[in-house]
Amino acid sequence: MLLALPFVLLAGAGAFLLYKFATVVDGEVLAMQFASLGAKLILSARNKDELERVKQNIVCKYPDCKVEVLPMDLSSGEGSLKEVVREAESLFSNAGIDYMIHNAAFERPKRGALEETEEGVKATFNVNVFGTITLTRLLAPSMLDRGMGHFVVMSSAAGKVPAPGQALYSASKHALNGYFSSLRSELCTKGIKVTVVCPGPIETPQPSGAASSSQRHSSEKRVSVERCAELTIVAATHGLKEAWISYQPVLTVMYLVQYIPTVGYWLMDKIGAKRLDAAAKKGNTYSWNLMFGGKKSA
Ligand SMILES: NC(=O)c1ccc[n+]([C@@H]2O[C@H](COP(=O)([O-])OP(=O)(O)OC[C@H]3O[C@@H](n4cnc5c(N)ncnc54)[C@H](OP(=O)(O)O)[C@@H]3O)[C@@H](O)[C@H]2O)c1
Repeated sequence: MLLALPFVLLAGAGAFLLYKFATVVDGEVLAMQFASLGAKLILSARNKDELERVKQNIVCKYPDCKVEVLPMDLSSGEGSLKEVVREAESLFSNAGIDYMIHNAAFERPKRGALEETEEGVKATFNVNVFGTITLTRLLAPSMLDRGMGHFVVMSSAAGKVPAPGQALYSASKHALNGYFSSLRSELCTKGIKVTVVCPGPIETPQPSGAASSSQRHSSEKRVSVERCAELTIVAATHGLKEAWISYQPVLTVMYLVQYIPTVGYWLMDKIGAKRLDAAAKKGNTYSWNLMFGGKKSA
């Protein structure tokens, strides 16, 4: 799970102040890791009770951590998001937002590109793209006034390469990559940084502590959410423009599509139908067998 999460990061005895507003893979784990670094956090998502639970967990472990809860629905439109931004910027004595971590995403069932409905397309883009871009537009002016701000965008490997079986999700993440890479180029000389994080499959625990049912039923090898959060923070605090976080074979496919696209797209075309089949059978959609095996699903 995760949220829109604004935070201030303090390292050492106040010698180093980083101010950023952001969203990530499993917001709770990410927020906990930021808290361990002394960040001031604003936790945002729709479910207030869940946000309060996360806040309690953080404060239990790090009693000195400053955490605020600010419920928000990314699909609620510009008027409502404007109010959320106004409130976020007034917290912590009007300190403003240093890091915006864009982590929220609409649900992403695996199905064929032609099975998507207009309703699903709108719902996915309202959260993953339109709400995220609107929130960014509303936050950027005060960052520009202060000459600093950092957007950390939780995209996906599916934002870099085709994702047969998740075409709509892939389209929304490609849109995010395009918007935020362009924003970076426009504003990097004015103190605005952008880090786009592109994880492959991550083992995201459910509130019960268990892996999701789709994760339990498949043999997919997933990076732990703790490692993903750790690498996301490393990427952001080192000002990386883009970070890829995954096991193989996803990284190989990403490198091929990026650097030898003719080979990368040929490979994706070879595995596309097999991947759809594997998804329908709740099998491994990231298996080497999809590339080299004769069988339809792993
Ligand atoms: N898990 C993976 O394998 C993986 C891989 C690559 C990339 N990612 C990306 O990493 C991010 C987090 O993944 P995840 O697996 O932790 O996702 P998740 O479990 O589906 O959590 C999504 C989070 O977004 C919030 N959210 C959903 N709709 C919202 C809305 N309309 N307004 C505000 N908040 C909303 C949810 O809280 P509420 O329901 O309370 O609003 C929840 O906290 C996503 O951007 C995802 O695309 C995940």
